[in-house]
Amino acid sequence: PLSAMEQEYAIRQEMGSLHGIPLYKSFIEGWPQVKAFQARPDDLLISTYPKSGTTWLSEIMDMIYHDGDVEKCRRDAIYNRVPFLELKIPKVPCATGVEQLENTPSPRLVKTHLPVQLLPNSFWEQDCKIIYMARNPKDVVISYYYFHQMAKIHSDPGTKAEFLENFMAGKVPYGSWYDHVRGWWEKKQEKMLYLFYEDMKKDPRREVQKILQFLGKELAEGTVERILHHTSFQEMKKNPAANYETMLPTLMDHSVSPFLRKGISGDWKNHFTVAQNERFDQHYQEHMAGSDLHFQMEV
Ligand code: PPS
Repeated sequence: PLSAMEQEYAIRQEMGSLHGIPLYKSFIEGWPQVKAFQARPDDLLISTYPKSGTTWLSEIMDMIYHDGDVEKCRRDAIYNRVPFLELKIPKVPCATGVEQLENTPSPRLVKTHLPVQLLPNSFWEQDCKIIYMARNPKDVVISYYYFHQMAKIHSDPGTKAEFLENFMAGKVPYGSWYDHVRGWWEKKQEKMLYLFYEDMKKDPRREVQKILQFLGKELAEGTVERILHHTSFQEMKKNPAANYETMLPTLMDHSVSPFLRKGISGDWKNHFTVAQNERFDQHYQEHMAGSDLHFQMEV
C-alpha cells in the first residue's frame, strides 16, 4: 500500500483536455461512462461553474426534497446526498459519480460542473429540470484559488497573480468561466432555472420561493424558515454533513483553507490589486460583450 505522502502525491494531477476543456485526468478516464449516463425524467440537475455556490444550492435542494427535515438531511455527507456526476477520484478505490448515482433511488439530485455542450444527452432526452447557479467571476477566482490549495487533486496553483492569469485565459479545470456561464445562459429554457449567488446572498427567501415555484411545490412558511436557517453559511459551516470535513484528509486539507471559507460577495476586494482589477474589468467587458447576462460584483 502507498504511504500517506505517496498517496497524496499520486492524487495531485496535471490537467488533461476533454474536447478542449481542461479537466482532471481521472475524470477524463471516466468520461465514457459519464457520456453514456442514463438520466431519469425526475432527476434534477444542479449545474455550476466550480465555486459558485453548488454546495449551498445542493443543501437547499435536499432540504426542499425532505420538507425541511433537518435530521433526514444529516443522513449522509452532501457529496453523497447529491452525487457529482463526472467525479472519479484518482488512486483511491471508491465509487465514481456515475456508480453512486446508479445506486441512488429516485428522485435524484445530480451535481455537475460540465459546460453545457458536454452535458450527457440523456438529460435533454429525458427533459430533466435543471437549476444553474452562477457567481461573479472575481469571487469565483479567489474561492477557486483557495480551493486549489486545500483540495489535493490540484497541482500547485502558483501565486495569486499567476492563478488570476490562468483563470482569465480559461486554463483552469472546467475551462473558461465566460464560456460556461454564457453557454448555459444561452440554453436557458422553460425547464431551466438560472440563479445567481449574489441574489441568494441578498434575499435567500425570494430565491427559495423561486425554486419552489419552479418545482411546483408549496411549503409552509415555518418550513421555509427552517430551510433558510439550516442552509445559512454559519449553520452549514458547523454541519459535518455539509462542510466536507468528512472527506478523506488525503483529498482535502481544511487546515490550509476550509471548504466553507468566507461565503460572502465581494471578498475579491481583499485580494485584487487596483491594477489587477482594472485589467480584469477590461477583460470582462471584452468577454461578456453582446450578452444580456449581467453580474453583481458585490452585494
Ligand atoms: S465546489 O467545489 O465547486 O462544489 O464549490 P461550491 O460549493 O460551488 O462553492 C464553494 C463556495 O460557496 C460558499 N458557500 C456558501 N456561501 C454562502 N452561504 C452558504 N450557505 C454557503 N455554502 C458554501 C463557500 O464558502 C465557497 O465560497 P468562498 O468564497 O470560498 O467562501
